[in-house]
Amino acid sequence: MANGLDDVVAADTVLSDVDGAGGHLTIRGHSLMELAGRWRFSQVVRLLFDGFFDDLPSDAELERAIGKARVDVFERLRPMLGQLAPLDIYSGMRAGMAMLPDGETLADALRLVAAPAVLTPALLRLGRAEEPIAPDDKADHAGDMLRMLNGSVLSPALAKALDAYLVTVCDHGLNASTFATRVVASTLAGLTSSVLAGLGALKGPLHGGAPGPVIEMLDAIEASDDATAWLRNEIARGRRIMGFGHRIYRVRDPRADVLKAVVRGLSARNETGSRLAFAERVEQVALEVLRIAKPHRSIQTNVEFYTALLLEAAGFPKEVFSNVFAAGRVAGWIAHAREQQATGRLIRPQSHYVGPVPDLVA
Ligand code: CMC
Repeated sequence: MANGLDDVVAADTVLSDVDGAGGHLTIRGHSLMELAGRWRFSQVVRLLFDGFFDDLPSDAELERAIGKARVDVFERLRPMLGQLAPLDIYSGMRAGMAMLPDGETLADALRLVAAPAVLTPALLRLGRAEEPIAPDDKADHAGDMLRMLNGSVLSPALAKALDAYLVTVCDHGLNASTFATRVVASTLAGLTSSVLAGLGALKGPLHGGAPGPVIEMLDAIEASDDATAWLRNEIARGRRIMGFGHRIYRVRDPRADVLKAVVRGLSARNETGSRLAFAERVEQVALEVLRIAKPHRSIQTNVEFYTALLLEAAGFPKEVFSNVFAAGRVAGWIAHAREQQATGRLIRPQSHYVGPVPDLVA
């Protein structure tokens, strides 16, 4: 038995490949470096969906269709937003998405792509006693998400940075949330049911829930004024340093470098102030502390460290960082669900029973 399924290969996929030794991420034949900052999110959605939906339109038409899906989701769920608002924003998003039709069509898929981008700003605004802002079906996806959050896109550079983020996290092999999605899809349940499984798995701090705690860590280290002592103390207490370590990567997570470059670009425009310089210092100290504390394991910076800086710079509060992660990863989940149904079987592993055995009746 492989506890945690380390090294178990559970699916063939054409969607993405994570090379943990070399530190490379390939998405449908393209390296991450080739896509992030160059392809728009809607183009990458098309790349992932290609072959899994019969009626996939051109890039430009798909961007419009995602815009229309944002409007559709907003209109369908608007009457329920008041009931979702008291929940934490991730749970509110998940509950809202659970109300979407559980079908298999491209329209069902695009509503699911649109939903995190629509529900997150709407629920945030309601939490601040502000009216939700309706989507603009002609805007680009990332820019519209920021517009729905703030009332206007504060800077095109921020919209471009958010778009690069959504592309960077759109798919990543058989991670926990994608595996959960594929398990549900393998039962031939609908896309909404499958994506809800992914949303549940993503929420935890060992997966998509890490970037919020990264901000808390940076704030705490800034207040303590001694990064080394703070980080050593965390490890001595058996805690994980958020934004470091990965099950697959034994070298630096390539997504960390892509996002760091995006944050650096924002910093050059003065969008991130001194935060980046401070975070870079903390990163170096954390790597050194981890190297000494865990010499048997190569623990490097992962995607979540610079995710935290990028989403903070884009104006999202840390409470919704996992929602924004879901806004990108949902594209991968849907493609994996379709691929599982097209090429896979029911996923049904076995367990090894270690409990008490019944007395045998003679
Ligand atoms: N801080 C301190 N120790 C760590 C860390 C960390 N961030 N990551 C791994 N370790 C240690 C762990 O304590 C253990 O030490 P020991 O052998 O002395 O008990 C050893 O490394 C192996 O740990 P593991 O739990 O078997 O490793 P894993 O493959 O399950 O860990 C991980 C992967 C992401 C759960 C882990 O690195 C972690 O908890 N990181 C912090 C949370 C985080 O940043 N999560 C985001 C992951 S990237 C987003 C994504 O792709 O999902």
